[in-house]
Amino acid sequence: MKVLVIGSGGREHALAWKLAQSPLFDELIVAPGNAGMARCARLLTPTRFDPEGLLALAEEAGADLTVVGPEAPLVEGIADLFRSRGKLIVGPSRAAARLEGSKVFAKDCMRRWGVPTAEFRIACSFDDVRQALDFFGCPVVLKADGLAAGKGVVLADDRQEAERVAAAMLSGEFVGEAGRRLVIERRLQGEEVSFIVLTDGTRVLPLAPTQDHKAVYDGDRGPNTGGMGAYCDSRILTETETQQILDRIVYPVLEGMRAEGITFTGFLYAGLMITAEGPMVLEFNVRMGDPEAQPLVHRLESDLGEVLLELARGELRTQSLRWRPEPSVCVVLAAAGYPGTPRKGDLIAGVEEAEAAGAVVFHAGTRLGPRGLETASGRVLGVTASGVTLPEAIQRVYAAVSKIHFEGMHYRRDIGAKGLKRWAATVSEAPA
Ligand code: AMP
Ligand code: GLY
Repeated sequence: MKVLVIGSGGREHALAWKLAQSPLFDELIVAPGNAGMARCARLLTPTRFDPEGLLALAEEAGADLTVVGPEAPLVEGIADLFRSRGKLIVGPSRAAARLEGSKVFAKDCMRRWGVPTAEFRIACSFDDVRQALDFFGCPVVLKADGLAAGKGVVLADDRQEAERVAAAMLSGEFVGEAGRRLVIERRLQGEEVSFIVLTDGTRVLPLAPTQDHKAVYDGDRGPNTGGMGAYCDSRILTETETQQILDRIVYPVLEGMRAEGITFTGFLYAGLMITAEGPMVLEFNVRMGDPEAQPLVHRLESDLGEVLLELARGELRTQSLRWRPEPSVCVVLAAAGYPGTPRKGDLIAGVEEAEAAGAVVFHAGTRLGPRGLETASGRVLGVTASGVTLPEAIQRVYAAVSKIHFEGMHYRRDIGAKGLKRWAATVSEAPA
């Protein structure tokens, strides 16, 4: 069988790396891919990165199964188009993908289905913004309704900032059309967790919990990014918390969708805040996380290809996934300027040395230039390693990171640090 992965970032390299290990496939194709993926897959460049262009590419390449990495083609209806042509694809329909494509839609759904989330108001004009700010006070959270590549959310500390950001969103200056409508919501306190499941709309296969690091600087300071690193460790959630997330969030969403005639199939990603009142939803994504995919596939023992094939065929049969007990950590190395406009074309050195030090280096924004491997976008590499304990995994990943260099490279030095407190008490115990 031939499997096609769509996308070009660290998440897609991680998915491709794992699928390359599956005995089910004799060919792995990636479109468009990046320099790192060229090592495990055949790269094809789509002439158009929209559903029709990608269908033409899949048909030409003879792909038996297609796995979609990014959200944009899903929101544009790629899964509906492939299914209408009888082609197997992993990912939700356009109707189900609105859960990520519109934050207003997602918040309305949660309100209807009783899913715990921050109290909110919808704003289409500056008058609406003022009323919402009068109601919530500050700090407050402003979210552009549409897709904004992880940059459409601003945590405003004071009213002046909130009004300035809201005005820039409404005018289209901040994130274009995506910001013409806003969600304004109460700021929640707690620890963030990414809870991702595979689902055929009824059955649910939870992946291990992960924790992303969205802010650009150590200590969660600075503007939000697409994610500066993530770790995967069973200890992130207790069994009770996992059950609460399934009972109060995942199952109600799938049931709510079914009641409205929509079957959600694919990866359902709940970005959560674990608050004093329990888990609450910050956002839904309708795809795998980036960089969560990197530490997840690094720990996953089961054959991802088999599970994805079941999903694409519409029936998830696998009952549970096997994970190595060792925690895994991914540190994202970013280019100068990121999360603003990144500088491109800086030469990258030391990737082989980092791999010799025991890490897997997933590529994101890389390309092969005339002088060798160089930077090609904001998030450049995702250096990933595991260890018997979380402290050991952290130590190993940073030892590998120290081998890599490019001009302007920056990264967070505290990836996984929040998880250390859970190890302090139980260093010698293996996680459940
Ligand atoms: P989102 O894209 O909605 O997940 O938001 C991006 C990031 O903003 C999240 O990962 C959180 O760090 C932060 N955030 C979003 N909503 C809230 C909220 N209601 N309270 C506190 N932080 C939030
Ligand atoms: N790491 C956040 C995301 O994938 O949206």
